[in-house]
Amino acid sequence: MIYQIYPRSFADADGDGIGDLPGLRSRLPYLADLGVNAIWLSPFYRSPMIDGGYDVADYRAVDPVFGTLADFDDLLADAHRLRLKVIVDIVPNHSSDQHPWFQEALAGRNRDRYLFSRTPNDWRSLFGGPAWTQVADGESYLHLFDPAQPDFNWRHPEVRAEFDDILRFWLDRGVDGFRVDVAHGMVKDLGAVAAFDHEDVHEIYRGWRKILDSYPGERMAVAEVFDTAPERVARYVRGDELHQAFNFDFLEAPWDAATLRDVIDRSCAAYDVPTWVLSNHDRPRHVTRFGSERRARAAILLMLALPGAAYLYQGEELGLPEVDGPAEARHDPRTPSRDGCRVPIPWSGAAPPFGFGPSPASWLPMPPDWATKTVAAQRANSRSFFHLYREALRQRRTWPPDGVAEVAPVAGRRAGVRAAVGAHLGDEPEPFAGPARSGRPDPHQRPDVRVGPAPGHHGLVRRYAVSLAAIRAKPARTSSTLGGGVGVCTSPSWSSNPLRSSS
Ligand code: NOJ
Repeated sequence: MIYQIYPRSFADADGDGIGDLPGLRSRLPYLADLGVNAIWLSPFYRSPMIDGGYDVADYRAVDPVFGTLADFDDLLADAHRLRLKVIVDIVPNHSSDQHPWFQEALAGRNRDRYLFSRTPNDWRSLFGGPAWTQVADGESYLHLFDPAQPDFNWRHPEVRAEFDDILRFWLDRGVDGFRVDVAHGMVKDLGAVAAFDHEDVHEIYRGWRKILDSYPGERMAVAEVFDTAPERVARYVRGDELHQAFNFDFLEAPWDAATLRDVIDRSCAAYDVPTWVLSNHDRPRHVTRFGSERRARAAILLMLALPGAAYLYQGEELGLPEVDGPAEARHDPRTPSRDGCRVPIPWSGAAPPFGFGPSPASWLPMPPDWATKTVAAQRANSRSFFHLYREALRQRRTWPPDGVAEVAPVAGRRAGVRAAVGAHLGDEPEPFAGPARSGRPDPHQRPDVRVGPAPGHHGLVRRYAVSLAAIRAKPARTSSTLGGGVGVCTSPSWSSNPLRSSS
């Protein structure tokens, strides 16, 4: 189980309103207590922060806003003491336009480390507009994202050697692995229709795998390969390439039993180690996407009961919804903005910034009504999201490594929606009645998670989805705190997310 941390928004130690590594370090015991096995840190490298740090100016330095390399080493040591593995983000498709190599390229030297052309093709940037920007002498450079993120030329041997060295730099410090940003983007054929998923990218990963395997202990890499069919994504996790790839089909699936069933079946068929993710720093939070807290509770039990690797995004264990912040506070260069899922974590207290840092500042405004969503408030409430996640994670740790979970709806109509699912491993699907004391199910009762021996994969996964179908067919009559209804998606930005539709 890997927990994603967006460092700007996790915990602020120095009071500048921006999360940092010392703040994160001080909260590691919380993560250990929650039951996390590993943390993945979104970029904390030196960066002008045009794209929240996914525009790297120095791949071997910590940006001063987050702290120092010594802070990183301390964080890593503490994490390892707490038995938490640490995965860092690597951003190889593009650098920042402030990277020394790009500055050299602008000055007319060593331009071929990037992709310059006098005859740009018609590719579009995933952030909108053309994927090419012209420089003073008339040539244009390629950027699949913001103009401040020029794409590297991965056919250049210096680019390859540089990234081999960057991997070693962090592995030498002791990191346990990497999350590879836009892993299907690096090698391009400018004459092709599509910018992504070029065959030659796999050779890079075969090289990276050798590097990872040359280090002692278990090191891993997980690929971000979006807008690609699972059968193609599976090629990034062949035995001599990367270890895992994010399951964007699951992340993007609406609250619809047939779709979920299909995604689960296809994923289990495509991957040796399927992965599951419901929220991250790029997508609207799933409480909002699915339209209710009850569905979010059901969804996480469904996800944590599936075989494979689960990824959680900070704050989902608090049931945080997407935040519709004021336009003047906007940071994200992309439209629609992703700021709504990047709002700082509420830790304690009755008013913003809810213990995020020692000063009243927070880089994105926090909703004033989050007092009941803080970690402190949820710890004190046994019915909270926090306790649901912690208990589900505890149960998950006790399952056999090759175990398969099955989910059955709780008995009773409203409880079937409220508590939604209980997961168990067993030969027979066993409707979970829940620990209600009276004849009627307690609508506030947390679902139970049961464990038993594991039979084969697919039949059970299918029954899982059938259970969801039953739930969907009988929505609760009461409306949820977030609007309720059977609608699949309440976030207007979701359907027009350009990261879903391009290429
Ligand atoms: C994917 C990252 O998750 C996203 O946040 C970023 O904007 C793009 N890659 C570009 O690096």
